Amino acid sequence: MSAESQIDLFNFSDNSNPTPQPAIDPELIPTSATIPIPLGTYSSMEQMNAHCNRCFRCDLGNNRTHAVVGEGNLNADVMIVGEGPGQTEDETGRPFVGRSGELLDKILASVKLTREQDVFICNIVKCRPPENREPTLQEADACKGYLLEQIRMIDPKIILLTGKTALRNLVGVKEGITKVRGQWIERDNRLYMPIFHPAYLLRNPSRETGSPKWLMWQDIQTVKTKLDEIRSR
Ligand code: URA
Repeated sequence: MSAESQIDLFNFSDNSNPTPQPAIDPELIPTSATIPIPLGTYSSMEQMNAHCNRCFRCDLGNNRTHAVVGEGNLNADVMIVGEGPGQTEDETGRPFVGRSGELLDKILASVKLTREQDVFICNIVKCRPPENREPTLQEADACKGYLLEQIRMIDPKIILLTGKTALRNLVGVKEGITKVRGQWIERDNRLYMPIFHPAYLLRNPSRETGSPKWLMWQDIQTVKTKLDEIRSR
């Protein structure tokens, strides 16, 4: 081999087919909470899903069967954020598939929405907290980068916050859900609506005027009216 052709082999100035290099090695991102997840890290939900299933940013990863990243329409105008996976969700890798999920589907159906077509459903934490306890602030914080990436990728116009964990950890509102449910909160060009968690409605089955279930039915209609308005723009 001549000296010139050897030099050619190491000629890095040829830019005819440049491949953009990610600023951060994505393989390194999820393993520890000391590594931030900057906005723009993920290019697809599948990629994020693979990371969540190998994530140890908090101890919830130790007991995980499946990370529950989310499901629904990746172009949905409405995102629903719950608290964290329960047992059935951990076993199946799907959000809201237990009794709470059945009720959530009925609530959506009451205004002719489906989880497949109209919404994307996910949670504050992607792995199941032991005994279905509330996620700690550290756990929610360690997982927040994933949720913010989901919001960036899906770009929903409306985000429904089911229960106080979602309300506190996503929009930082510390007031009780009973006080603020049904009221729009506007942040960064998006509308957030706190609503009761379906599990709370299962514990409070009354449908009387003013009951939590009755209020939920008012709230979901408010959401549907706003969604129709957004869709008709
Ligand atoms: N199932 C979920 O996925 N999230 C909840 O918050 C409750 C049940």
